[in-house]
Amino acid sequence: MPASAPQALPNDHDRKGLPAWAYFNEEMLEMEKDLLFRSHWQLVCHVNDVPETGDFVTLDCVGERALVIRGQDGKLRGFHNLCRHRGSRVVAAEQGNCRNSIICPFHGWVYNLDGTLRGAAQPDKLPPLDPVAFGLKPIDTDIWRGLVFVRFCPGPQPAMSEVLKRFDAELAQYDLDGLLPGGEGFYSEQAAVNWKCVRDVDNEGYHVPMAHPGLDDLFGSNYYDEVFQGGASRSFSKFREGRNRLWSVRAYTSILNPPEGLDDEHGRAWLYIGLFPNCVLGIYPDCVKFYQEFPVAYGQTMQRGTTYRLANEDRRMRAARYLSSRIDALTSEEDEQLVRWVWESAFSSGYDGMILSDLENCVRSYHDELRGHFPVLDEEEPPKGQVAARNAELLRQRAAAE
Ligand code: FES
Ligand SMILES: [Fe+2]
Repeated sequence: MPASAPQALPNDHDRKGLPAWAYFNEEMLEMEKDLLFRSHWQLVCHVNDVPETGDFVTLDCVGERALVIRGQDGKLRGFHNLCRHRGSRVVAAEQGNCRNSIICPFHGWVYNLDGTLRGAAQPDKLPPLDPVAFGLKPIDTDIWRGLVFVRFCPGPQPAMSEVLKRFDAELAQYDLDGLLPGGEGFYSEQAAVNWKCVRDVDNEGYHVPMAHPGLDDLFGSNYYDEVFQGGASRSFSKFREGRNRLWSVRAYTSILNPPEGLDDEHGRAWLYIGLFPNCVLGIYPDCVKFYQEFPVAYGQTMQRGTTYRLANEDRRMRAARYLSSRIDALTSEEDEQLVRWVWESAFSSGYDGMILSDLENCVRSYHDELRGHFPVLDEEEPPKGQVAARNAELLRQRAAAE
């Protein structure tokens, strides 16, 4: 199917971006934890990361701990990674296999893979415990095209199949359900910035010609972003015609044999789907990856991600995946510096905010999604201690006016 063109924007659209205080206000960060991170779907893994009984993956997110585990019945379930005795993690590792039970490393309470309590250690020293009432607490899970999401609190998003519905026809070309782990596990890296600075840099391709020689060599001027709508955005770029300048890009484009099933557009293109508030799927002919950011503390962000390979990857496709990952690794390094500079700017007395070009309309639409949750971002920084109250008041006013 043909890729659609970027949307035209009226010249007088709001170009100012978020105010500087949005990035360094600590009350804002606490609100984001509740209204964004706990209450939106968070991508944990692919079903093929946990193919066997007892296989699990864990995810830490703003003080919450999720455990996704495959039961004896083959079903995947999501739980709080939280022992019902005294709150220890029941599983310490990021990924692994529990065989046929989950044993808490603190005092040894044992849970079945369906979360029910099998037994406490030294049960004669405790009153009788109901296996369900004292079982692991379930959390909402959703599986879309093999990707497993959890949500810690009820929130405004529908199922991921609804959030991503408008991409169904395009994504049907890719075997997302059949993806397999790329073999390097999940990476996580910490950066001393506010998490939104990462999103702001990542949400536009305007900086590609200047800041990313590798991507520029791969795409030329073909890259474009489509704005966030209903919590998802799309960026697409066909490889440019002609001989590439950089050896890694040249090697990648010459070795890549587009897999069967992809049309001409997608066989030689990279597609990114942005998931509000904090995740990106990178869908390439040779692999699929995701990365996501979580605030871990004031001015500290964790980025986590992984790469999946195609189910029928041959040696040539494996080499292509290695080369595309190399291009991506350089791009990430280049972005790290930009993200730091964006974060620093929020503290400068000379910073007057942004002026966004038409090529940064995805940043604008992302900020619009944020303003939807935080109308207070359209105002001056409220006095200390009043940010949440002012935001709640504005949300109330908006609900009353609707
Ligand atoms: S906290 Fe898990 S057994 Fe005590
Ligand atoms: Fe970048």
